[in-house]
Amino acid sequence: MPKTIIVSNRLPVRIQEINGEYTLSPSEGGLATGLGSIYKQNDNIWIGWPGLEITDESVQKKITRQLKDQSLWPVFLSQEEISEYYEGFSNEVLWPVFHYYASTYANYKESNWDFYQQVNEKFKQAVLSVAKPGDTIWVHDYQLMLLPSLIRKEHPDLSIGFFLHIPFPSYEMFRLVPWRAELMHGLLGADLVGFHTFDDVRHFINASTRILPVTSSANIITDGERSIVVESFPMGIDDKKYAALTRDPEVKKDVKLIHDTFKNTKLIVTIDRLDYSKGILQRLHVFEYILEHYPEYREKIALYMVVVPSRDTVPQYAHLRDQIDKNVGTINSVYRTIDWVPIHYYYRSLPIEMLSALYSTADVCLVTPMRDGMNLVSKEYVASRVNNDGVLILSEMAGASKELIDALIVNPNNTVEVAQTLIQAINMPIEEQRKRMVQMRQMVSKFNVSHWVKIFMDKLNEVKQLQRSMLTRHVGSATEQSIISRYAKTQKRIIFLDYDGTLVDFKPVIDQAVPDEDLYSIINHLTEDPANHVVLISGRKHDILGEWFADYDIDLIAEHGAWFKKQHSGWHKLPGLSAQWKHDILPVMETYVDRTPGTFIEEKSYSLVWHYRKAQKGLGELRAGELMNTLKYIANDKGLQLLPGDKVVEVKNMEINKGKAALTMVDGDKYDFIMALGDDYTDEDIFKALPESAITIKIGSNLSAAKFYLRTPFEARRLLKSLAENTFVKY
Ligand code: UDP
Ligand code: G6P
Repeated sequence: MPKTIIVSNRLPVRIQEINGEYTLSPSEGGLATGLGSIYKQNDNIWIGWPGLEITDESVQKKITRQLKDQSLWPVFLSQEEISEYYEGFSNEVLWPVFHYYASTYANYKESNWDFYQQVNEKFKQAVLSVAKPGDTIWVHDYQLMLLPSLIRKEHPDLSIGFFLHIPFPSYEMFRLVPWRAELMHGLLGADLVGFHTFDDVRHFINASTRILPVTSSANIITDGERSIVVESFPMGIDDKKYAALTRDPEVKKDVKLIHDTFKNTKLIVTIDRLDYSKGILQRLHVFEYILEHYPEYREKIALYMVVVPSRDTVPQYAHLRDQIDKNVGTINSVYRTIDWVPIHYYYRSLPIEMLSALYSTADVCLVTPMRDGMNLVSKEYVASRVNNDGVLILSEMAGASKELIDALIVNPNNTVEVAQTLIQAINMPIEEQRKRMVQMRQMVSKFNVSHWVKIFMDKLNEVKQLQRSMLTRHVGSATEQSIISRYAKTQKRIIFLDYDGTLVDFKPVIDQAVPDEDLYSIINHLTEDPANHVVLISGRKHDILGEWFADYDIDLIAEHGAWFKKQHSGWHKLPGLSAQWKHDILPVMETYVDRTPGTFIEEKSYSLVWHYRKAQKGLGELRAGELMNTLKYIANDKGLQLLPGDKVVEVKNMEINKGKAALTMVDGDKYDFIMALGDDYTDEDIFKALPESAITIKIGSNLSAAKFYLRTPFEARRLLKSLAENTFVKY
């Protein structure tokens, strides 16, 4: 039976060595806790590192057996791999860059990168050793960004999803990484790339098109012939588990203990992994600020601060730990009294029962990261508030703030704002607490972790089906054979060919895209067969097309249908057209040329085209949208059509349309073979206008009204050559 293989750097359990004995305990961190509670529900396997260096092979074997009982497959890392790949590249390059700490903490070391590649390879081997055809691979997080492409290379058809648990930064940050192209390429091996928030999605799509030669349309990235879908899936928690825990006798015991200790004080709880992205020092500063500026709260409030040990072998983390120790010590020594300690600080991992007791007793949960992909602690607090009371203060820099909008949302950099919000929270009337908490509890319950897994997996299946249906539309050898055999059996054929992007590649300068010998020879061979009627149908100016093709046995349609030329006769234009409107549109377009370096206007008899192929990436697209907006109403008034094409915006008379032009050729004559090849927006009109029996082929993309697609002009020419070979004269 097909299974899902989850792959992450860390397994949901880690090995600890105590007095020479190896024991397993739960891993820390949102990925492990969130997914760990449900991965066993199906026949899944989880591949990952068990969190400790084990050199002895017999111990490795023993641990492997033990883990396999829980469907876990260990990848053992050497000390060097741990320090270079995990501590070095993952946590001293990717973590700081992705959390906007590049300038403070990122350390780009070549050897770290070498090991990152090597360990991603190692994970690939582990995946290949268990993956079977039909399985789904779900790769998680920044430690394994190369893995999707590595697996794809070995198994092109596997279903591969990737989810990033941390923020994806803006292009300006991501571009700093020397290996950005390789990382981006690695991720695009997946079929579906998921993030917690829509901002991450935007950043990722933008970065992908700036760094690699890929294109995007809405949330689909096209990389060669592959389509990759990018979407946000905010991760949830197992809310029922946290609600049920509050009824556990162990938890009730802990709750009583906490109540007894903090009888007359409002309890503020904070729980984080040791990490500079969590804003722990800034939060201590807020607390100190309150004690200093609002003395009436001394002895009335207490901060219960749990910091879970994490990555303390990385220098910045060890340093942070020292800083926290120091600051807590200072605040406590300045403000403590005989029967009151302001901060209760614990640097340790807590059993889930104690965690639940803290969540359910705390009056306020203070979650103020400087950046956080999601932050599950905030959701766990909400799920534990079964009486619908309590106040959540949440940083707007946490992904969770996009969902938990009924929390008190703060900017963690603003000490005064956070302090005042904390005071507001301490004094919040119970009715308001309930109103907010009920909303948040509904959100946490509806979008729980099972829902998260389901919508991700459903989408991945959908993407796979979409890709398969597109695959069948590509003119592969079987389709090509059936087109050829239909061609060979017919006696009266018409073939419409667009020019730019269909028969020749785009060039930065339009006049460089001249026809070559190969193209002329294809046309000659096609037209040698008297059964063939070849029509070149282009948006190009008629005089240029005439110059290039007047001597050939083909009909020409220029400027999208404004001009017609039958073989070996003169040009005539569509009657009743006016170009008066150009006086109004041209000055507007000119302002865009003035403001956007690298752009220019092409003037045709009945159209104006603004070209931006050579404009700065991103700016051209932005201005094109602006230009379309500006011209929208005036175009409507004047009976004009606005066409956003491939790096162009064209304005033309509404009456001119390649589809109508093609139909006038087909009407009346009884063709038994109709074929059209085109690459852009304007060619869609031909595809839609031609009769159902026509063979319509889009070049360059698979999103089209055409029946089939080919990837490049090279492939288009190859098809035409194969057809010509089947005419009575051999090619
Ligand atoms: N957590 C833990 N041990 C503890 C305290 C907390 O494993 O002693 C869990 C907590 O319940 C939460 C996770 O660690 O599920 C932290 O996830 P979050 O998304 O808040 O932050 P991350 O650590 O992933 O950056
Ligand atoms: C975050 C990351 C996880 C990571 C966890 C704990 O949640 O997104 O990938 O596992 O922190 O960090 P650690 O370095 O101990 O695995």
